Amino acid sequence: MNLFDVYPLLDITPVKGEGCYIWDEDGTKYLDLYGGHAVISVGHSHPHYIDRLTSQLKQIGFYSNSVQIPQQKELAVKLGQLSGYPDYQLFLVNSGAEANENALKLASFVTGRKKIVAFKKGFHGRTSAAVAVTDNPKIIAPINESSNAVIIPFDNLQELEIQLKTNEIAGVIIEGIQGIGGIHVPAEGFLVQAEKLCKQYGALLILDEIQSGYGRSGKFFAHQYTDVKPDIITVAKGMGNGFPVGALLIAPEIKPWHGMLGTTFGGNYLACAASLAVLEIMEDEKLVENAQKVGSYLIEKLKGFSGIKEVRGLGLMIGLEFDQPINDIRHVLLKKHHVFTGVSGANTIRLLSPLTLNSEQADVFIESLAAILQK
Ligand SMILES: Cc1ncc(COP(=O)(O)O)c(C=O)c1O
Repeated sequence: MNLFDVYPLLDITPVKGEGCYIWDEDGTKYLDLYGGHAVISVGHSHPHYIDRLTSQLKQIGFYSNSVQIPQQKELAVKLGQLSGYPDYQLFLVNSGAEANENALKLASFVTGRKKIVAFKKGFHGRTSAAVAVTDNPKIIAPINESSNAVIIPFDNLQELEIQLKTNEIAGVIIEGIQGIGGIHVPAEGFLVQAEKLCKQYGALLILDEIQSGYGRSGKFFAHQYTDVKPDIITVAKGMGNGFPVGALLIAPEIKPWHGMLGTTFGGNYLACAASLAVLEIMEDEKLVENAQKVGSYLIEKLKGFSGIKEVRGLGLMIGLEFDQPINDIRHVLLKKHHVFTGVSGANTIRLLSPLTLNSEQADVFIESLAAILQK
């Protein structure tokens, strides 16, 4: 059998990881500034992460959500404390798309309405409702096309109010920082005003923090640079450091009923162990603070580079937009300097390193890029 060939693969076969580094099968060591697409939060193969997962597996690995799983409650308490949302409710799922799918469904349940407002260049996943509110017609199959998805320009409050005034909008979904769209931080005041409008017209505000959350922005959630309190926050990626887990943090006003949402694998023992290990390491090693410190250092240094049109982002979620396609730059970074970076569109390099990145490692990237741009 062949693999279903949907991924344009890079010429690299990682076989080992440690901290901010991965090793190829021929022993070449790479600095990982891509983090497996913003997933590796606490570093590759962290000893505490390995211990937590292996000791859990030795006890019990799986049971369904028809039994008490104390680790879920432990996770809810810890996540509530560290995220600044102790009074919210936790619903555990397996991926980002599934988190958003359930958030959109919840907005519809709560309001009795069907329509969702989303934004240009936004990405929310590939399941049915999540892909319908994603601004990329290429990945929307005919079965996912929906007149219930209204996509408007990013940061545009006037357009948002026009939609909300119809009183048909169940929810508004916004990324904490747009990731796949090229690292766009919402304009100052936009989230606060959007929240006000949502309240005024009875729609729920959903913050998709799947890429921007879990400390990546230098705050636990990117929207915490503002005073916004969303009705629902969705997370995944960095939450499990590679173990598939996602979640919804749901405001206390939203009341559940039995059977309202559900999943077979969501919240299993191993997912909880991985998520708890991530939070414990983040707290112990002060990784949110580190993301802010090293991210600001990188952003400041890179702003001075000639050849870069714009540097965008917060913490360790950084987009470098060039005047030209970046394929060659990215290739030389990987093959000659052994620095692995991400992309966004044709012209933007995306940095999504583990939150453990230190300033010496940041300097390796800065010097490598400088050497390439000088040529
Ligand atoms: C902002 C955002 N939302 C949702 C998703 C979908 O997550 P997943 O691939 O885990 O379904 C992604 C994935 O890149 C994302 O960046």
